[in-house]
Amino acid sequence: MRAVADILEHVSRLIVRPSGPLSGEVVIRGAKNSVLKLMAACVLATGRYVLRNVPHISDVEHMRLLLEAMGIQTRWRDDDALEVVRGDEVTPEAPYELVERMRASSAVLGPLLASVGEARVAMPGGDDFGSRPIDMHLQGLEAMGARFSLAHGVIEGVAPRLKGTEIVLEYPSVGATENLLMAGVLAEGRTTVHNAAREPEIADLAAFLNRMGGRILGAGSSVITIDGVDELRAVEHRVIPDRVEVATFLSALGVAGGELDLRGVRVDHLDLLIEKLGRMGMRISPEAEGLWAMSKGRPRPVDVATLPYPGLATDYLPVLVALQCFSTGTSYATENVFSGRFRYIGELARMGARIRVEDHHLVIDGVERLSGAPVRAVDIRAGAALVVAALGADGETVISDAHHIDRGYEDFDARMRAIGADVQRVD
Ligand code: UD1
Repeated sequence: MRAVADILEHVSRLIVRPSGPLSGEVVIRGAKNSVLKLMAACVLATGRYVLRNVPHISDVEHMRLLLEAMGIQTRWRDDDALEVVRGDEVTPEAPYELVERMRASSAVLGPLLASVGEARVAMPGGDDFGSRPIDMHLQGLEAMGARFSLAHGVIEGVAPRLKGTEIVLEYPSVGATENLLMAGVLAEGRTTVHNAAREPEIADLAAFLNRMGGRILGAGSSVITIDGVDELRAVEHRVIPDRVEVATFLSALGVAGGELDLRGVRVDHLDLLIEKLGRMGMRISPEAEGLWAMSKGRPRPVDVATLPYPGLATDYLPVLVALQCFSTGTSYATENVFSGRFRYIGELARMGARIRVEDHHLVIDGVERLSGAPVRAVDIRAGAALVVAALGADGETVISDAHHIDRGYEDFDARMRAIGADVQRVD
């Protein structure tokens, strides 16, 4: 296991050469987007928590740094169990250096207000997805009685005791739904969130909070009711598997061909993805605790469009686009969730991909092979997409800023090598 400082600071590159067919088994790790919120939820009650199936990714290390800055202890217990010990005192602050590195830091806002009654969280700025405001988080918490002010780039919130209320989200925001769940669980009375996000990670967070003694109903649907309780307790919990990892390994299989067994998968979280890949020509069948997949030849052109769950996840799109680059015709990809999430397209174009950007749509003319080139990972999934594309690119693709990939994938290069992909890391 690499040291924390090494994971956080190392600037490395990945070198990928044409690969395939892939074969073997991949064990899917715990979901990044779930574990970060579960860690934030540990702010809610004193005691010793154990989170299992926690991936060794740098975003988890960032969240550990944030918890530790607040006075909450964390340590790896064995391979994938993370222990979190929350004592009586918590410093209710998320400093800019940490929020700027990882936007999910704003997940501590709701838990801090609910359990400490105050929070100072640096205002997140824009990022590679375009502008990412947290107005819906703040409006919901305000409706519950919190008061906010912004000074010197820091949002200061106070809330003597939050009060349950009816909240209608303008859009089913994942982050806003999560902050409201974590706030409502200790509020006075009933909070109802309408138009809530339905992602599996929301249901995982609600399961965790209920295990702590919370009273949440309807998580995973559009209407969630939370009956506030006076006290919660620390618990143990196993993180759900990462569905974006599944999309990544399956897209890699689509490009390189071959046969893979993915273990530790929740097939019920993947309906639409499996449907789409099946229509592209991939054979996928569920198995006990996993799935088997086989791919041969170029994918058929199939259109994809992202939407809030149960729609196709925006986090899948970069790797699916990498696969669409090799289609036997023209296909479309539409990004409906984030504006400005197309920065990686220029990198794919450097490799010879034929993609036209039209507003929030991509028109992709499939080619037989790409051509290896020096490219840059602009974010986690964009980085993974470049690796996927490079498997079908002649020559060598050198991906710089690979630390972005490490934010969300544990040992990506080693796990790709284990199934036969030629992916090397150079520091
Ligand atoms: C989370 C995920 C991210 C995923 C996204 C959508 C984590 C750490 N990140 O991000 O990987 O791509 O869900 O599935 O879990 N919005 C507002 N105001 C708000 C909140 C959101 O305008 O207050 C907008 C965003 O700019 C975006 C859309 O709503 O256009 C969706 O954002 P949201 O669902 O909140 O995504 P995140 O929670 O930031």
